[in-house]
Amino acid sequence: MFHKLSPETATRPVTISVDGVTVEVEEGESVAAILLRTPPFTARTTPVSGAARAPYCMMGVCFDCLIEIGGATSIRACMTRARDGMAVRRQLGRPAPPDINL
Ligand code: FES
Repeated sequence: MFHKLSPETATRPVTISVDGVTVEVEEGESVAAILLRTPPFTARTTPVSGAARAPYCMMGVCFDCLIEIGGATSIRACMTRARDGMAVRRQLGRPAPPDINL
């Protein structure tokens, strides 16, 4: 769907996983941009209807890019930069509530 236009601005290559699949990216790249060029090109499904959503505004406003990173849920992919070894999962439906032991 999408591909990078300017390889001359490339930074250090790193590896992340998206739903368990290894993906080569550039350090500091927007995770939302990575999802838009990684099949199935979506970030999450809605809690009520299960409809697929993809990054839309790319500036932290629409919340259509919510993902899970390293077990933390509802992270905005467009506000997150790729780091080596990052484990990204598409957020399917309503995330489980956090396990809080007070
Ligand atoms: S793409 Fe809209 S909040 Fe991330």
